[in-house]
Amino acid sequence: MPQTPATGRTPLDRTPQWAALGKHRAELGELHLRELFEQDPQRGSRYTLQVGDLYLDYSKHLVTDRTLDLLRELAEATDVAGLRDAMFRGDKINVTEDRAVLHTALRAPRGAVVEVDGVNVVPEVHAVLDKMADFSNRVRSGAWTGHTGKRIRNIVNIGIGGSDLGPAMAYEVLRSYAQRDLTVRFVSNVDGADLHEAVRDLDAAETLFIVASKTFTTIETVTNATSAREWLLGRLGAGQEAVAKHFVALSTNAHGVADFGIDVENMFEFWDWVGGRYSYDSAIGLSLMVAIGPEQFQQMLDGFRLVDEHFRTAPAAENVPLLLGLLGIWYGQFFDAQSHAVLPYSHYLSKFTAYLQQLDMESNGKSVQRDGKPVDWTTGPVVWGTPGTNGQHAYYQLLHQGTKMIPADLIGFAQPVADLAPGLVAQHDLLMANFFAQAQAFAFGKTPEEVAAEGVPAELIPHKTFRGNHPTTVVLAQELTPSVLGQLVALYEHKVFVQGAVWNIDSFDQWGVELGKVLARKIEPVLLTGEGGEHLDSSSAALVAKYRELRGR
Ligand code: F6P
Repeated sequence: MPQTPATGRTPLDRTPQWAALGKHRAELGELHLRELFEQDPQRGSRYTLQVGDLYLDYSKHLVTDRTLDLLRELAEATDVAGLRDAMFRGDKINVTEDRAVLHTALRAPRGAVVEVDGVNVVPEVHAVLDKMADFSNRVRSGAWTGHTGKRIRNIVNIGIGGSDLGPAMAYEVLRSYAQRDLTVRFVSNVDGADLHEAVRDLDAAETLFIVASKTFTTIETVTNATSAREWLLGRLGAGQEAVAKHFVALSTNAHGVADFGIDVENMFEFWDWVGGRYSYDSAIGLSLMVAIGPEQFQQMLDGFRLVDEHFRTAPAAENVPLLLGLLGIWYGQFFDAQSHAVLPYSHYLSKFTAYLQQLDMESNGKSVQRDGKPVDWTTGPVVWGTPGTNGQHAYYQLLHQGTKMIPADLIGFAQPVADLAPGLVAQHDLLMANFFAQAQAFAFGKTPEEVAAEGVPAELIPHKTFRGNHPTTVVLAQELTPSVLGQLVALYEHKVFVQGAVWNIDSFDQWGVELGKVLARKIEPVLLTGEGGEHLDSSSAALVAKYRELRGR
């Protein structure tokens, strides 16, 4: 395996910086955010940072200046900056797959130089972006027509994981920037219901399928694409010649695309140095580009780029992804936090947390170090959450009064989107009042004394007390624009990077998804024929038998 700045280093838990953090944590004891705010009246403005359009308040974290110094010393000791520079340089830091990790090159400006194996990849990136822009413009204007000559009005992206979650999330976020007479849908699940519901009311003559798969071997995607082709040809009463006008592919695998029957002329390429979960700003974003247009797609890339540059160059004390990554490590290891909630106060961000789940959990859900040795420290958290106000009426009870430590990010915007009716614009202040109130309640809670002062009977006081002390990061921006979306995603990408670097894990492979795929391939024929199930354990064998019985086989 290739050597990188992070291989062969002192195990994390044997570094003096790790020990110093442990000691510091013990010294802090039961420190409450109420005390921290009392001690420093400027805390609410002092513990803030700005990156691009994102204003970040980290004052409601269980940290002191000393904690932050120690965390930054840990980052230095684990050479986060060295691995970061190696990533941006194009070194093969994905050690188990021997690949460069260069999603940052996807947003490099024309004329930049980023080399992989001695070849500058930036011209290729821009050639694909140009081809995507040309195609998007033709679809948007109606110049690209289907087999019968009708213009395309429906776009169906077929992909899964990174080939679905990114474009689906971003389309949802930027709906108000989209060409509204285009219907854009996303199919990922191999459950036939997904494709059925996506196409049942569409006119095949006006429908374009975008088959998105980095490998073009993913069984769910290839199966759905095959069924979509059958549906299309059946509805049109046409032969294979209709495919060229209704199917395009996004992939690194030209052979796989050609074998499927899609003309490679209609393929938009990307490269093995783009991880699936880091790919929606590559060709994988084609459905989004068709929806919002190339200019706004470029604004989004510029947003990514802005945070890339910040991460690459900002000093440690002002480096936002570094700070967020280190805070997550602090809570995971020293407060035993098992999960991390992302709670957007924007309806348009309703798929954002699902997107982050893959980004974070597929990247950092690892238990061996880069050299294969087991980790003796906790790694990636469970990431979860939904838009905040809905969560308030569902699971916030547990956040406020349960027994778990769950750090949370609250994301909100000063302006509602531009095309809301005036009455709906007026609702924005109510939304944001909830946003600020929740961050306040999480941090400061309500003491028994405060509850008693309201005349609450003694026996109810414990029930109505809020311990508080739940840490949050509050991210506030002017408006949810394409650029701001790019900034937010890059922020989380680099946060995840920082954590993987400190934990010394390979954040860019995903071997943990393989076993289930292999077993499914073995079980499928048993479901069909009832034969060949000797390898199954007794539970699986009984379940398969029950399934066959219920299926009438
Ligand atoms: O199964 C996990 C995974 O490999 C993800 O990492 C990836 O985003 C997804 O499957 C889809 O892969 P592909 O784009 O190759 O179809």
